[in-house]
Amino acid sequence: MHKLIINGGKALKGEIKTSGSKNASLPILFSSILADEPLVLSNIPNTSDVSTTIRLLMDIGGEFILESNGDMYVDSSQIKNLVADYKIVKTMRASILALGVMLAKYGKAKVSLPGGCAIGTRPVNLHLKALRELGAEIEIKNGYIYASANGLVGTEIYFDRITVTATENLIMAASLAKGTTVIHNAAQEPEITDLCKCLNSMGAKISNIGTSTLTIEGVTNLKGVKYSVCSDRIEAGTYLVAAAITRGSITINNICHQSMRSVLGKLIETGADIKTKKNSISLDMKGRRPKSVNIKTSTYPNFPTDMQAQFTALNTISDGYSTITENIFENRFMHVPELSRMGANLSLEGNTVICKGVESLTGTNLMATDLRASASLVLAGLIAKGTTTIERVYHLDRGYETIEEKLKLLGADIERVQD
Ligand code: EPZ
Repeated sequence: MHKLIINGGKALKGEIKTSGSKNASLPILFSSILADEPLVLSNIPNTSDVSTTIRLLMDIGGEFILESNGDMYVDSSQIKNLVADYKIVKTMRASILALGVMLAKYGKAKVSLPGGCAIGTRPVNLHLKALRELGAEIEIKNGYIYASANGLVGTEIYFDRITVTATENLIMAASLAKGTTVIHNAAQEPEITDLCKCLNSMGAKISNIGTSTLTIEGVTNLKGVKYSVCSDRIEAGTYLVAAAITRGSITINNICHQSMRSVLGKLIETGADIKTKKNSISLDMKGRRPKSVNIKTSTYPNFPTDMQAQFTALNTISDGYSTITENIFENRFMHVPELSRMGANLSLEGNTVICKGVESLTGTNLMATDLRASASLVLAGLIAKGTTTIERVYHLDRGYETIEEKLKLLGADIERVQD
């Protein structure tokens, strides 16, 4: 296992490039199961969740080639084994996305129940309810979902609550269903828009893309395409917070700022100077201490839960009081006790953290627990006095491509070492 060692106190300066979006790459990789021909995908990030997805696709009979120019050739058109095994699913919950595509293409699927994770119980009841409404027979036995269908049939789907991967599962299943499906209360995250654009380029007929009511007219087959995945708005947001917390000045390239309005608004509230161009965002704190900002997480286009931990870290050293309310997951505050061990003044009341900004944090030994909590510990280490060591950084590697290399490019004193 690896750990990160950070010597804090350096204001970040310089330019980096955003990688492709993890949360767009995963459903798009799974959509290769729907196609009769290979996909050639670019801008896919080199993260462990992507590697896990590729391992799963190969496990079931898919073919994968990493081209010399970085493009990924993915051919899942001839899969034989319609099983998403527990040994893979337990390492990545998004494996549930195998369900809708296998059902739509082959009328059969056996997918391990994902189980919970550090941030919550993460049920999949809404996925199963909606797939049953498309005509799937679904039974749960010995920790597995057994699903079958003699051809899915389009219908009106109403999601009781907004759910990202359930929306993605249904979009992909409905793409090859007979007739038309209308999904009401669909999630509107940019990663879903990217998936819909990729599916339409494969021959799907999805309309009202980017809204909460999606119409999908089923087609009989989908072809292979070349497609470049959108950039990762959460990665970009994380580095912007890294610049804010260290009172630095950075530019992030290869990112579309329109998908980050709620996050940029909060960064401006902390006192950051933000400049945006077509494909880049610049943040300059001009050496100022950030101001405290109140955060309430919600669904897109409101403030993303995936940026909550990062802003909690920022608030720990900001000037004043703040409240951070997590409305999406029931246990997404695993970073709070670790930040408190660095001297942060945080108290937890239900789903809200109350924070009083302190002048400085002190580096110490920390343990990463989940992807975004780990990112928040890195941000705290960048500003803490002395040395911070973060263990179990495999959590970080799930969603951040070479995080220490990008931070080094910005002047951070950070090393990855073997545990
Ligand atoms: C996706 O998770 C993302 N993962 C998460 O990113 C992100 O935090 C989350 O959406 C919310 O934006 C991927 O895209 C791979 P949900 P997902 O279904 O789809 C409840 C990261 O850090 N729910 O939108 O699993 C659920 O428990 C990760 O990159 C049900 O009750 O989240 C949660 O409280 C973490 N039943 C809420 O809905 C269901 O069947 C929203 O979850 C499904 C969800």
